[in-house]
Amino acid sequence: MEISIDLGTEVLSVAANGEVIAREPCVLARSLDTRMVLAVGGAAARMLGRVGADIEVVRPVVHGRLADPEAAAQLIQRVLSQKLGWRWKLFPRLYLVMSDPADSYVCHSLTEALRPARCTVVPRALAAARGAGLPVAGPKGQAIVDFGAGRTEISILSLNQVIASRSLPIAGQSLDEALRQHSLNSRELNLSQDAARELKHSVGCAVADLSQGTCLAWGRELASGMPRQLEFSAREVADSMADPLTRIARGIQQALEQVPPGLAADLVDQGLLLTGGGALLLHLSEYLQSHLELPIRIAENPAHCGVLGASHPVAGPTLGLAS
Ligand SMILES: Nc1ncnc2c1ncn2[C@@H]1O[C@H](COP(=O)(O)OP(=O)(O)O)[C@@H](O)[C@H]1O
Ligand SMILES: [Mg+2]
Repeated sequence: MEISIDLGTEVLSVAANGEVIAREPCVLARSLDTRMVLAVGGAAARMLGRVGADIEVVRPVVHGRLADPEAAAQLIQRVLSQKLGWRWKLFPRLYLVMSDPADSYVCHSLTEALRPARCTVVPRALAAARGAGLPVAGPKGQAIVDFGAGRTEISILSLNQVIASRSLPIAGQSLDEALRQHSLNSRELNLSQDAARELKHSVGCAVADLSQGTCLAWGRELASGMPRQLEFSAREVADSMADPLTRIARGIQQALEQVPPGLAADLVDQGLLLTGGGALLLHLSEYLQSHLELPIRIAENPAHCGVLGASHPVAGPTLGLAS
């Protein structure tokens, strides 16, 4: 049995034997005094903002970067025990998908904390490309954009290696925040992060689509401080997310301009593949296609590609693309 784990900013995904067996919020609640784990995943996420001073609710990954390796290890161990029981300890070979495996200090802390399991850290771009079925073993350059919650990563792969990559701290959470700001400033309604994300999932689109209609969202009215429900149209939601989307498109464009000339023709030929949960935003491929003038495809199961492509990695060095 092989176990793969994708440590995302918002979602922890686990796959065993090529099947996704868990997708949980990447959140852990623990006692501040004893460091004892009190809850993980969905149960811990429900405690966010609702606990006293003796409990901390932690997100181990912030903007795609592993910020708390101890919490990440506890979260992984607890989720594996919940999903696989004691069996997971018999197969202690774990493939860990992470955004920035080059940050060797935090990676090392995490893999040490997971001992005796033997861990292999896999760059997210390589895992996502394999999970999406891209022929990364060949000499042709393959371009992939992983659009997660905390980060958008643009990578060029060839011969089983990430040969160039650029990572932007603008992604799904930036769209949620833009929507929250719009609601505060123009509708005088304070939406929670969860409410903004739900609104984006219901009627959000990269290009306004009137057929998406409207959606009601609860928030706190600024004037009265009372809970209130307002209706948001798909156009309003799309307009409020326009700024971070433009910045993402510009960031991808700048990254592609740095691609070594030998690979540029491959990109024009094959275009970009989108992975990550953010790729589920309606009309994103049309939006990027019109900005980048390249063919854009969305992976079949964009949010699952990373965890499904993690095992048997042949990782290689990564060159940073100039900003
Ligand atoms: N249907 C959808 N429409 C728009 N965004 C979506 C949709 N489904 C998921 N997302 C967004 O995808 C992001 C999560 O992507 P994922 O790759 O699962 O996360 P992580 O960064 O934790 O790996 C979140 O910002 C989430 O709001
Ligand atoms: Mg992801």
